Amino acid sequence: MKRLFYLFAFWFPILSGASAAPGDKHIAVETQRTALVIRISQEGDPTIVYLGRRLQSPADYELLPDNSKRGEDYTKLYNSAYTPAGGRNLLEPALQIAHADGNPSSDLKYVRHQTQNGADGVVLTTVFLKDPQYPFEVSLFYKAYQQEDVIEQWSSIRHTEKKNVRLQKYASANLYIPAQRYYLTHFHGDWAKEMNPEEIQLSAGLKVLDTKLGTRADLFQPPSFLLSLNQPAQEETGEVLAGTLAWSGNYKIEFEVDPLRNLRLIAGINPYASEYTLAPGKEFVTPAFLYTYSSNGKGQASRNLHRWARKHRIPQGEGNRLTLLNNWEATYFDFNEEKLTTLFKDGKKLGVDLFLLDDGWFANKYPRNNDHTGLGDWQENKQKLPHGLGYLVKEAESAGIKFGIWLEPEMVSPKSELYEKHPDWVIKLPNRSEYYFRNQLVLDLSNPNVQDFVYGVVDGILTKNPTLGYIKWDCNAVIYNAFSATNPNPSHLFVEYVQGLYKVLDRLRAKYPTLPLMLCSGGGGRVDYGALKYFTEFWPSDNTDGLERIFIQWNYSYFFPAIATCNHITDWGKQPIKFRTDVAMMGKMGYDIVVSKLDEEELQFSQEALKTYSRVKDVIWQGDLFRLVSPQTNDLASLVYVSEKQDKAIWFNYLVGNRYREGSQAPIQLKGLNPAKKYRIQELNIYPGNNSPINRNQTVYSGDYLMTVGFNPQVDARRTSVVLEITESN
Ligand code: GLA
Repeated sequence: MKRLFYLFAFWFPILSGASAAPGDKHIAVETQRTALVIRISQEGDPTIVYLGRRLQSPADYELLPDNSKRGEDYTKLYNSAYTPAGGRNLLEPALQIAHADGNPSSDLKYVRHQTQNGADGVVLTTVFLKDPQYPFEVSLFYKAYQQEDVIEQWSSIRHTEKKNVRLQKYASANLYIPAQRYYLTHFHGDWAKEMNPEEIQLSAGLKVLDTKLGTRADLFQPPSFLLSLNQPAQEETGEVLAGTLAWSGNYKIEFEVDPLRNLRLIAGINPYASEYTLAPGKEFVTPAFLYTYSSNGKGQASRNLHRWARKHRIPQGEGNRLTLLNNWEATYFDFNEEKLTTLFKDGKKLGVDLFLLDDGWFANKYPRNNDHTGLGDWQENKQKLPHGLGYLVKEAESAGIKFGIWLEPEMVSPKSELYEKHPDWVIKLPNRSEYYFRNQLVLDLSNPNVQDFVYGVVDGILTKNPTLGYIKWDCNAVIYNAFSATNPNPSHLFVEYVQGLYKVLDRLRAKYPTLPLMLCSGGGGRVDYGALKYFTEFWPSDNTDGLERIFIQWNYSYFFPAIATCNHITDWGKQPIKFRTDVAMMGKMGYDIVVSKLDEEELQFSQEALKTYSRVKDVIWQGDLFRLVSPQTNDLASLVYVSEKQDKAIWFNYLVGNRYREGSQAPIQLKGLNPAKKYRIQELNIYPGNNSPINRNQTVYSGDYLMTVGFNPQVDARRTSVVLEITESN
């Protein structure tokens, strides 16, 4: 018996879960409603002891059990704030390196920390760590956006060892989240099928979200997820963490339910084929992992991210956007100056702000008349555009609209002058046959000469055409045969590609800070907050079928705000133009249609819709989004944007099933209104000749009534989409 006791006591030293010992230090990273607490033990190990709703008294953080509520681990490292590999660690590491002397282990002890208060309630906490045996340091950065409840976390690695250190894994963030159960919603897809959610309960061990595609990295799986604690979170209830990595390349996000059934989360650049050689005195800075914790469901989490993105990340996130007419689906590669000039006039007639000339306007030796040739040769095609871009800019402007163009500057066609001149600028393996994605190859942006070329292409066009009003920046290929002919460190290619891209974009943004830029990647293959530091908006999918779009836009809306989500009305869907317009209006609306093919009523409807949009767009772009009825589980989708002052709301409703009698049978309870205010409801986007049953009713409702009892938008097979304007009334 005695023997059994000793055995037990040895293996399970402190089953009760000890709290802080005398001398332990606590670093609390707090926002308005959230706290992340790091405990530094007397031995100097940094551990995460809390992530959740902020406690009123910081002194309470000292009472927290050491390693969640479930007891001790063998290593006292399961909850490390940045798990080092090679020593006593038993689980997934955040950092794996080989020192200059070949030693494959690291140990990270607390040195000091500092807190800096910035403008707009942004507080940056830095925790400095060092290996006691080596001049090797890691700094952990936690930027807390107080008002938006968002934490941006990254790390930096540097050393002064005698020779290079090899970084084999170098995560951005390492979190520890104890709960009874964990439900992960991740999103997968492919071209034209972006953002399909899947919710799973995490079981013991590892679940990995990752990508190895290099460019267009999110094609199958974006770096964004929702993690619900204890039970699947709902829109307005439940604990949920929404997270996303701000990196436009290969990433890896690991969820590990550890032996104590606590959750470890490690997010960062994918270590796959990316060993990084760090020279003495140099610093490696990881991309940021962004997250928000909500104890009020997924809705609050996404509203936090939207507010953060508009205020702190997306250029002019609180500013204006241009409505546009794009010619891609109207003409594909087949156009000339005359055709385009007619389209400018059509755009003006329709009422948009800008005409966007898509693919096909460039290259001469190998003209871009299909998607096999010409990428890289960014000179106007003389046959199609004998008078050049400058002429088109002027023609558009004299027709009364601005002019923008499509570019795909990171790519090269095998048939192009650029490829002929600079074969060593192309990513490919010398002894393997070329393999193409959309008939093209990727330029090696890890090469500074290529960076200069790409910058020069864009800068050249903008210098020659200073009033050019918009660029759609596309990226249609993944990286095959990953190899750089010029990079002295071949395994740096994936990382330095993205860094090279950001360098180009940094230079462009320094010179053109306000130019609207659309982030496109054969649809939504590159939607992340690393790229959205530079782009004013993104293209969610090439699939513009109205019905499909409801789902795609709905799922992007968990992470990205309406102002940045480009929704175009096209002929892809077979639904009436009213339906397609109502769907596009829930974000940044645009067109890709042949205006001259619209009949009189369709044109009149569209012109009116654009006027309505310009009147209400601020509520959609800057308002708080409340998702009311999910299309994933209902035959209806319903969502509302409410202005910050709660005096206006725009409410979108769509029928997504077509079985007999499907529709809104009962009132839908609104959210986000002020219960004490009174509101009137008016239907928008009424098709010429139709009457709205809703507009006959002039009743004034209290916010309380609308949120408790609700209102029936009367969606049915005859009214498949209904947009309502809710206005405060005295
Ligand atoms: C990609 C984009 C489209 C269009 C084409 C042009 O597929 O997503 O919108 O610009 O390229 O080639």
